[in-house]
Amino acid sequence: MKDFAGKIAVITGGGTGMGRELARQLVAEGCNVAMCDVSAEAMAETKRLCEVEKLPQGLRITTHIADVSIEDQFLRFRDELIEQQATDRIHLLFNNAGIGGGGSLFTNTREQWERTFNICWGGVYLGVRTFLPLLVKADEGHIVNTSSVNGFWASVGLGVSHTAYCSAKFAVKGFTEALMNDLRLNAPHIKCSVVMPGHIGTSIVSNSRKVQNGSDQLTPNEIVQSRQRLKGMGIDVAGLSDDQIQQIALDRAQKFHDEAPTTAAAAAKFILDGVKAERWRILVGDDAHRLDQRVRQAPEKAYTPEFYQSFAEEVGWRLG
Ligand SMILES: NC(=O)c1ccc[n+]([C@@H]2O[C@H](COP(=O)([O-])OP(=O)(O)OC[C@H]3O[C@@H](n4cnc5c(N)ncnc54)[C@H](O)[C@@H]3O)[C@@H](O)[C@H]2O)c1
Repeated sequence: MKDFAGKIAVITGGGTGMGRELARQLVAEGCNVAMCDVSAEAMAETKRLCEVEKLPQGLRITTHIADVSIEDQFLRFRDELIEQQATDRIHLLFNNAGIGGGGSLFTNTREQWERTFNICWGGVYLGVRTFLPLLVKADEGHIVNTSSVNGFWASVGLGVSHTAYCSAKFAVKGFTEALMNDLRLNAPHIKCSVVMPGHIGTSIVSNSRKVQNGSDQLTPNEIVQSRQRLKGMGIDVAGLSDDQIQQIALDRAQKFHDEAPTTAAAAAKFILDGVKAERWRILVGDDAHRLDQRVRQAPEKAYTPEFYQSFAEEVGWRLG
């Protein structure tokens, strides 16, 4: 797809981060956008930002509350879109919504684990199931599924269990790669791409807590885990109160946003350029490219402490 003007795009998780920036850049190119999110407030802000520039006449930006892990909510989103965008077809589907957390089979509950998995994997699967009939009706279409570098490398460092997110992101990558041929055989006017971002400056750390815990505060169990993790990093936690641990977690979430090598806006541009170039694999950020090379060069070493330390030093990651 060479040009987005006059097309209709669906974006899941359009409230903040890369979803918001995708919406802004698509609208700037004259594309209609229908987004969903769990936060009405965040979507209202995305819509406001899109409307700051004068919109082309008749361009529609619609917002829809839907949790992507729940099929009924996805179907309601689809029905609202058909009505409010006055269409029976879409051209672009960005399955972007995702959260982290719930990463351990030992220290997290099953509900937390499955919440992350069902959003990161289930949201992509249900997104494709729900919107495929509308894509098929368009003259050309493109599905963009957001995985992660954690779709080919299952770690964020040695001090963190990360099983739910990595399983989901590997599933998104495998699904999208297999989908390419299914589309070629059955709907050749639709293409698909898997997006694998490195560290992007967004509020995903605090947003994930909001989705998992109902607020950006750590649960009592997470405070215990945080103490263990900080201790493992050589920090003396004995004299720190729970409030101080909360503050450290809030600061780390802010740093994740502020100190990333790639902004959400730059990431959205890479993604849209990748779609225009019809690339099926879209690595986002220099860190993602380097990690991809390193894992391919030495797969057997990929989960050793030396691998992580040397990679983190090279790209300046301080996540684990
Ligand atoms: N930020 C990174 O470093 C990074 C790296 C690799 C991959 N990713 C992936 O990129 C995608 C976008 O993440 P981001 O960094 O922009 O995060 P973000 O938190 O800024 O944006 C994600 C949006 O999805 C929404 N959301 C969460 N759960 C939802 C649900 N169940 N239903 C609907 N909406 C929901 C959130 O409210 C939020 O608005 C995610 O899939 C994430 O896993 C991010």
